[in-house]
Amino acid sequence: MEGSFTGGDEYQKHFLPRDYLAAFYSFDSGPVPEAEMLKFNLECLHKTFGPGGLQGDTLIDIDSGPTIYQVLAACESFKDITLSDFTDRNREELEKWLKKEPGAYDWTPAVRFACELEGNSDRWREKEEKLRAVVKRVLKCDANLGNPLAPVVLPLADCVLTLLAMECACCSLDAYRAALRNLASLLKPGGHLVTIVTLRLKSYMVGKRQFSCVPLEKEEVEQAVLDAGFDIEQLLHSPRSYTVSLAANTGLCFIVARKRPGP
Ligand SMILES: C[S@@+](CC[C@H](N)C(=O)[O-])C[C@H]1O[C@@H](n2cnc3c(N)ncnc32)[C@H](O)[C@@H]1O
Repeated sequence: MEGSFTGGDEYQKHFLPRDYLAAFYSFDSGPVPEAEMLKFNLECLHKTFGPGGLQGDTLIDIDSGPTIYQVLAACESFKDITLSDFTDRNREELEKWLKKEPGAYDWTPAVRFACELEGNSDRWREKEEKLRAVVKRVLKCDANLGNPLAPVVLPLADCVLTLLAMECACCSLDAYRAALRNLASLLKPGGHLVTIVTLRLKSYMVGKRQFSCVPLEKEEVEQAVLDAGFDIEQLLHSPRSYTVSLAANTGLCFIVARKRPGP
């Protein structure tokens, strides 16, 4: 239902990873907007984490969902990656891929594309193994908590990544602003936040279920990042959008921001 917030309980009960992957990450449906979005996201991540880009020891990905594409670039420049999501099913889907269990989702096309960006598409098997080795844990998270990974307390990280997620986990602009402050608390001073946000999106479908989003304007995202204690190093605004929202004038905002030192 439009207008009502779908919180953690709804995600836990009704967000089916396979429906989500089929809708947004199926690789056999030709050049649909979803595939273009994925390529765009992988290109942004390659530029951010590729040669001369961000590097460090630890990276935390908040609200990973059932997906691993978002850490394909970062696994080359960070030694210890944490994946996280609110729901048990999404974390199980991630573990399935990490442990190469039967029925694990096939990310090969995305991995090949990420390797192509790095200049060697034949390296995809090696890259999959690299990623599996670098992901050290999959944790429960709730972006609305002061410590989103509670009860686990991780050492402050060099980088926090969150893609297409905070706008889904939050019920209002105020909650979005608070969630960004929560993410900032996971970072070392000088550490980086890397985020991609869908703008102006009110809801999206996963199978037959509708999930709410807080519709955000670029300027609101920008201000929230600044107010959470970051300096913005890069902001890219793209008019790209998903099939469901082609008519809704949505878009994407890609941001790399550095946590300011001090309190
Ligand atoms: C649209 S998916 C994004 C998944 C993935 N990051 C991607 O790029 O495809 C939104 C994710 O947010 C998670 N989520 C919803 N509410 C949350 C909350 N309060 N805290 C953390 N994650 C939440 C859901 O379980 C879901 O996996």
